[in-house]
Amino acid sequence: MAERIEAATAGPINLADYEALAAERLEPGVLDYYAGGAGDERTLRDNVDAFARRHLRPRVLVDVSEVSTSTTVLGAEISLPVLVAPTALQRLAHPDGEPGMARAAAAAGTIFTLSTLATSRPAEVAWHAPPAPRWFQLYAFRDTAVTRALCDEAVEHGFDAVVLTVDAPRAGRRERDLRSGFAVPPEVDMPAVRAALGAGACPTPAEFFSLVDTSLSWRALEELADDLPLPVVVKGIQTAQDAALACDHGAAAVVVSNHGGRQLDGVAASLDVLPEVVDAVGGRVEVLIDGGVRRGTDVAVALALGARAVLIGRPPLWGLAAAGEAGARHVLELLREELRLALLLLGCPSPAHVTRGHVS
Ligand SMILES: Cc1cc2nc3c(=O)[nH]c(=O)nc-3n(C[C@H](O)[C@H](O)[C@H](O)COP(=O)(O)O)c2cc1C
Repeated sequence: MAERIEAATAGPINLADYEALAAERLEPGVLDYYAGGAGDERTLRDNVDAFARRHLRPRVLVDVSEVSTSTTVLGAEISLPVLVAPTALQRLAHPDGEPGMARAAAAAGTIFTLSTLATSRPAEVAWHAPPAPRWFQLYAFRDTAVTRALCDEAVEHGFDAVVLTVDAPRAGRRERDLRSGFAVPPEVDMPAVRAALGAGACPTPAEFFSLVDTSLSWRALEELADDLPLPVVVKGIQTAQDAALACDHGAAAVVVSNHGGRQLDGVAASLDVLPEVVDAVGGRVEVLIDGGVRRGTDVAVALALGARAVLIGRPPLWGLAAAGEAGARHVLELLREELRLALLLLGCPSPAHVTRGHVS
């Protein structure tokens, strides 16, 4: 009996378990790079705490004999409203790297977003992952030819959207990295950054942000949206005003995000900003959110406040660190099971049934 209990509880059963496993397995400097935020990490903590400040309001005697977690984002069907956010340097977590993460997302029936600061090119991910909806996250480099070449490669290799990150003209002050002296090991390739640097240098995260174009404006968004044959998703919206501007300048969707608390410390939790963004957008485009989602019930809260879907950044990295592609997949499956149960107990047969009235 004792043995059976031990066997039943030995593996990770939630995302926090994966975080603990990743903390055991990752080299300390990499762990701090993944886990850390900017400044005093107030926003980092608040992203998570904001979900705890909300309360779900279940409705009863609703037929929940059939519950589906499926939805659509930008017209693509996904099996759960949880996307994999762009995160840099995934090969530092596990040799499976970005191709493994892409395969995990595809197997879970959701969208993988490849970072510009990835350790694989868009073409490599396309070769090593099955055809499935996937997005490419863009940092617009000062060298516009590099930006253009990256976008062209993403288009050519079947990526379905470009996610323009707008909250990082420079890196936030990430003090854990300053203390650890974190730099990308020379054996880890960052093809996009190498192309922008034009040399085999091995930059720190702050150094690669120095390549980003700080003069980018709303006009540039409009030009990108006009030029690209793909929808442009604007990631890093934190006010109603910018949400409205993004709609006016060609965004196909916006992501309410503060970069997981890694940029401007002291900004509001993503969840606290979501309602004003949803109001400002007024249904013109889909609103997504990331930052602090750790439970299926968090996903339900975000849906109730008007998000079409959420993105998760750190949790799939923990999964990857713990068990490669299989770990990242399991993180997504755990969230799916938690969300399915949350929907059932909320009285919502699908994400589309979750309304503002289901949260206070
Ligand atoms: C280690 C790490 C690297 C990241 N790299 C990128 C990136 O290259 N591009 C980007 O747009 N966002 C990046 N982000 C931000 C994520 O896309 C996302 O906004 C954030 O992680 C969401 O918060 P969460 O980790 O609490 O889910 C990164 C986040 C982390 C933790």
